[in-house]
Amino acid sequence: MSYPTHRPRRLRRTAPLRRLVAETRLHPADLVLPMFVKESLTAPVPLQSMPGVLQHTRESLKVAAAEAVAAGVGGLMLFGIPAERDPIGTAATQPDGILNLALSDLRAEVGKDTVLMADLCLDEFTDHGHCGVLDEHGEVDNDATLLRYREMAVAQAEAGADLIGTSGMMDGQVAACRDALDGAGHTDTGVFAYAAKYASAFYGPFREAVDSALQGDRRTYQQNPANRRESAREVALDVAEGADLVMVKPAMSYLDVLADVAATVDVPVAAYQISGEYAMISAAAANGWIDRDRAIAESLLSIKRAGAQIVLTYWATEVAAKLAAGQ
Ligand code: PBG
Repeated sequence: MSYPTHRPRRLRRTAPLRRLVAETRLHPADLVLPMFVKESLTAPVPLQSMPGVLQHTRESLKVAAAEAVAAGVGGLMLFGIPAERDPIGTAATQPDGILNLALSDLRAEVGKDTVLMADLCLDEFTDHGHCGVLDEHGEVDNDATLLRYREMAVAQAEAGADLIGTSGMMDGQVAACRDALDGAGHTDTGVFAYAAKYASAFYGPFREAVDSALQGDRRTYQQNPANRRESAREVALDVAEGADLVMVKPAMSYLDVLADVAATVDVPVAAYQISGEYAMISAAAANGWIDRDRAIAESLLSIKRAGAQIVLTYWATEVAAKLAAGQ
């Protein structure tokens, strides 16, 4: 008897066969490492909710960045935590604000060998923890925030960022930053737009990472998790405003959105495997409930398979080093 004629299992029989026919592969250069640097720390601080992730000092940041670059990661995305916060996030735009200082440090240390990116948002710098400035009713004021983002874009470009990561979800933020950069002569600094960004519970551990002051939530500016088509609009607007790359965030709960975006835009597409995604896998693995390394690899593959060329992940250095070693 010859039935069945079609035997897909043939191509799964050995590891070399499976490797030969793999449709998606991870490569160190696809991975971007998000990093946290905090002002006036004397030693790095481990994050409880993200085992293995640190709030860095300026010195330890340089060492970790050099390790990431040596492992071959595609780039670094920097977040800064200032010592002083105020309603307008003054430290975000000062040349000697922690994020801008650390960008200059990294530009001097590893900038020639990697792509340097910075988060462009006010939430780490405001005393109320919102991504923008507030109006007299305590609501986030879109257009007043754009003025702050313009200054922040120029400050980051001057500190050495290759790409600015517009993550605040204000309307018109890409156009505002592009205009400010061009007006200041920074025509070569690109905009990495967090284009489809959802109001997600999975950002939880990030709040610890940046000592967030936020009360409440970001639902008046970040997207409703119920919506899929809305992302097409957000992404199209960012591309029309001049985004050089677009990102979907979070990653794993939004793979449908990611696949839509990858199928429609002609700029590079990234996805951010965020803090809560890292924390969930770490916690389950620590309990012995899942195989850590396989879960990490599978999660990253799923994000690439859905259409991300670039993945931001807190495992970037570890995974890049393993890939480079052929594991
Ligand atoms: C905004 C920003 C956030 C993250 C990246 N940029 C927080 C937020 O939007 O609430 C989250 C990243 C993560 O959870 O890993 N500055």
